[in-house]
Amino acid sequence: MDRRQFLTASAALAGASMAATPMMSLAATHRSPEDEDYWNFIRKQYEVTDKITNMEAGYWGIMSIPVTQAYIRNTHFINSNSTYYVRREYRGDYNKIIARIAKKLGVGEDELVLTRNATEAMSSLINGYNKLNEGDTVIYADQDYGAMQSEMRYLKKYRRVNVVEIAAPEPASKQDMIDAYERALNDHPKCKMILLTHVSNRTGIINPVKEITAMAKGRGVDVLLDAAHSWGQFDFDFQDLGVDFCGFNMHKWIGVPLGVGLLYIRKNRVLDIDPLRGEAGPENDNVRTRIHTGTVNFASVLTIPDALDFREGIGQRNIEGRLRALRNQWVSQVRGNDKVEILTPDDENMYAAITSFRIKGKTSYEDNAELMTMLHEKYGIFTVAIGGLAKGSAIRVSPSLYNSRADCDKLAAAIKDITG
Ligand SMILES: Cc1ncc(COP(=O)(O)O)c(C=O)c1O
Repeated sequence: MDRRQFLTASAALAGASMAATPMMSLAATHRSPEDEDYWNFIRKQYEVTDKITNMEAGYWGIMSIPVTQAYIRNTHFINSNSTYYVRREYRGDYNKIIARIAKKLGVGEDELVLTRNATEAMSSLINGYNKLNEGDTVIYADQDYGAMQSEMRYLKKYRRVNVVEIAAPEPASKQDMIDAYERALNDHPKCKMILLTHVSNRTGIINPVKEITAMAKGRGVDVLLDAAHSWGQFDFDFQDLGVDFCGFNMHKWIGVPLGVGLLYIRKNRVLDIDPLRGEAGPENDNVRTRIHTGTVNFASVLTIPDALDFREGIGQRNIEGRLRALRNQWVSQVRGNDKVEILTPDDENMYAAITSFRIKGKTSYEDNAELMTMLHEKYGIFTVAIGGLAKGSAIRVSPSLYNSRADCDKLAAAIKDITG
């Protein structure tokens, strides 16, 4: 029995535990974010606990029911066929998956390699970037992800470079962000590389990557883009950003099973990233030598096409519109509250699902951890306290397709109640 036959035969077994609506009934036509019948139908494609109103999809995105079913079938398949399949056929299936992703991103199949998460992809880029000389400068910002900041700081010891952290302006307009990076480049003319985050996990801000990258490249500075949160959360033309190095996640907003990320290196730049510790000679420009995951969760990888099918059935633009509408639903009710600071601007180019807020004066991590607990225990809403921002900690709110407008109203009412 080959993989296709196995999956067909086992579909009934996996499906028996969960009733899903066939995705054929979803058409990728325009769907208004206000079409509550449609979005309620989409909400029913997710199996979510009713113990809590979960507005913390920023950690990772749960699978829809059809994707969960495919994942169960793939898990059965891998478990029963194990190495007999993996050693003979997995590479062919992997290549087909890479080809599909490459087409979606508008890049070459030889420019991508799967990773286990965005951390693995970014770590390979930051550690492996070999254009640095002693005395050069590298820059990152307070809004970047903690683990990537650590990797950048380590370059001081590892590559003997000067490591600079800048504070992102807050609140920020698109131009404020561009100006902040321009100032940093002016202040540090020896800068050779910048870590830039597409969507900050701390504030939800979408950074003007295209403009910052063009400015940096104009000065001979490379940008390593952390796109862990962007692909799937909103629609963008990846090639238009002009980046040469990028790490993605597939288990956040694409809704793939946990354990899948992606590394992109533009073909003519692969040699600027070292192969993974002895994986290949320095002249080898095969992007796959820049990652060595060891044994992976093959079932997760094989479920990528199902997650892409599910999303394409809804349509990326429709998903983005709905996520933004959910975010606006609570932000519009809180915006006028002078006791609250909303960290993410209302410029549609600068936000999608995620937005952070803090109660004025409550800037310590402890303050916000306390607020997170109160939202959880008193109001039944799950969010997360975020530290590390120069202007102080905050609460991050990240709704997803399984949330309703009523969930967002509940959060707005809780904030009103807390601030009196
Ligand atoms: C901006 C950013 N980069 C990287 C990561 C790391 O993702 P993962 O834990 O899946 O590797 C995250 C996770 O939240 C993130 O928000």
